Amino acid sequence: MCGIVGYIGKRQATPILISGLRRLEYRGYDSAGVAVHNGESSRVVRCCGKLSNLEQKLALEPVPGMLGIGHTRWATHGKPSDENAHPHKAGGVSVVHNGIIENHVALRNELEEEGVTFSSDTDTEIFAHLIHREMRGGAEALARGVQQVLRKVQGAYAIVVMDDADPSTLVAAKSASPLVIGLGDGENYVASDVTAILDETRDMIFVEEQELATVRPSGVHITDLDGNPVERAPRRINWSVVQAEKQGYRHFMQKEIFEQPRAVADTLAGRLDRERGDVKLDGIDLDVRSIRRVVFVACGTSYHASLIGKFLVESLARIPTEVDLASEFRYRDPLIGSGDLVIGISQSGETADTMAAMKMAREKGATLLAVSNVLESSIPRMADHAFYTHAGPEIGVASTKAFVTQLASLVLIAAYLGRRSGALDRGRGDELLGELAELPKKMSDVIEHSAQLQVIARRYGGAKGFLFLGRGNQYPIALEGALKLKEISYIHAEGYAAGEMKHGPIALIDETMPVIVIAPRGAHYEKVISNLTEVRARDGKIVAIATRGDTEIGSAADEVVMVPTAAPEILPLLTALPLQLLAYYVAVSKGTDIDQPRNLAKSVTVE
Ligand code: F6R
Repeated sequence: MCGIVGYIGKRQATPILISGLRRLEYRGYDSAGVAVHNGESSRVVRCCGKLSNLEQKLALEPVPGMLGIGHTRWATHGKPSDENAHPHKAGGVSVVHNGIIENHVALRNELEEEGVTFSSDTDTEIFAHLIHREMRGGAEALARGVQQVLRKVQGAYAIVVMDDADPSTLVAAKSASPLVIGLGDGENYVASDVTAILDETRDMIFVEEQELATVRPSGVHITDLDGNPVERAPRRINWSVVQAEKQGYRHFMQKEIFEQPRAVADTLAGRLDRERGDVKLDGIDLDVRSIRRVVFVACGTSYHASLIGKFLVESLARIPTEVDLASEFRYRDPLIGSGDLVIGISQSGETADTMAAMKMAREKGATLLAVSNVLESSIPRMADHAFYTHAGPEIGVASTKAFVTQLASLVLIAAYLGRRSGALDRGRGDELLGELAELPKKMSDVIEHSAQLQVIARRYGGAKGFLFLGRGNQYPIALEGALKLKEISYIHAEGYAAGEMKHGPIALIDETMPVIVIAPRGAHYEKVISNLTEVRARDGKIVAIATRGDTEIGSAADEVVMVPTAAPEILPLLTALPLQLLAYYVAVSKGTDIDQPRNLAKSVTVE
């Protein structure tokens, strides 16, 4: 997501901060800024757009000093703008922050009641005001003030703080967002990513969860959030810059698959209202009882997410729902009008067909809701309501974490509609939220077993074609599994509704055809097992994706990949993961260009 660099020592900070931020540019950002302390006071320079804009500004108003913090922002709360760019400053306290503060509304209200005026829409500015309040209240050291504030904050953060009153100290802390300290000689560095400071030093200390580091030119002191000292030896990092950008993973796609539990936690952050069995969706205020029908429009992977959205909206909100490919919808003069809620799903927020379909729906009088990963991109900007997935920048062309966070978003949106349509009662709502809260842990569990998919990929990766079968809300997962394999391994793959098999694709099956069957325990289990038996009878090789505890399926399949059990609404977020891993490892074995597969672009802004 966003990038952080900090410096304290004996050289001018600004060039070090800028070159560190430049190293993080590949991840995407919409604004940037620095705060530099000249020994007496600090000054913030920040602006929207590229780092070159910031450099131009700094050329006009240089900020000399040997202590500084810098940031590239990828907007989550508050649109990209000069005011929302980091660092944020309150009194003498300047802060940069990666992550999302879940209880930001309550904290902001509390500060506003005390008379604090905010100058941005960000959750980060809250940190600056809270730390400033602690320092004014007599906290004996910046580290102590930061500690006090972190006790009040829920959510994910990597923060770096400096205070005008103490030019010899940087304080950094971490919870669920990466943070690393780089060690120099009479100078030290802080960064969100190794890449940012690899040109300066290779000796690094990785800050762990709920730890706080006090960084001075002469050394680094790490404690837990209660102030108890933590001993941690530095590590020598031998990665190349390219390896470091991928955080040690071989490909961005692999990194993005593995970071999905975190991405989904970010999607959910601050949106679960367990007390009311409801969801809190900032930026969405729909008159749900007047919605006659929901229509999803999207392309590619986002279309597959929409197909699952139909199941969710119909089962949780009991509102009739249709799904259309945006490229078809826009050219078929659809029957659409007021009373229709058109939900456009787009990771990039820039897909030409999705945008055109939504524009047409608007002209016909529909209400528009956009689900996107990119704040202030065209599609959410044109919609009446916008929901952001908060997956962080997705660099691999084949979508993984964006897809899974779209699914998590759709569970939230369907629950929102259900609670307001009256179809979802508080008890069931709360059960669902409980399931969502458990989800990141269950996803990690699947990902921890990735080695099995590596073996399966090696065993079947030489096949000429694959078939993916699923029923109900696992049918779109079959489509998505097939799409992932096609995109990055260039092997032909078909996704089919399992019940359709005997209407045609069964003719393809022989001993050379691997068939991936998604067969979790649940409503369709027996039916899927009977499809599986039909494949078996024709010597097809079966890889079953099943739920843990299923002791029957082993005798019907050649390979079984187990995922944790979960509510039917949640299961697609788990069964999608082995299929991503399978596609990834098959592509690795074929040596294709995984992050930039041939003929594909990340953002399809033309028809
Ligand atoms: C597949 C993939 C594409 C996109 C499609 C829509 O891995 O990424 O199929 O899903 O091009 O893109 P967005 O979601 O940006 O509208």
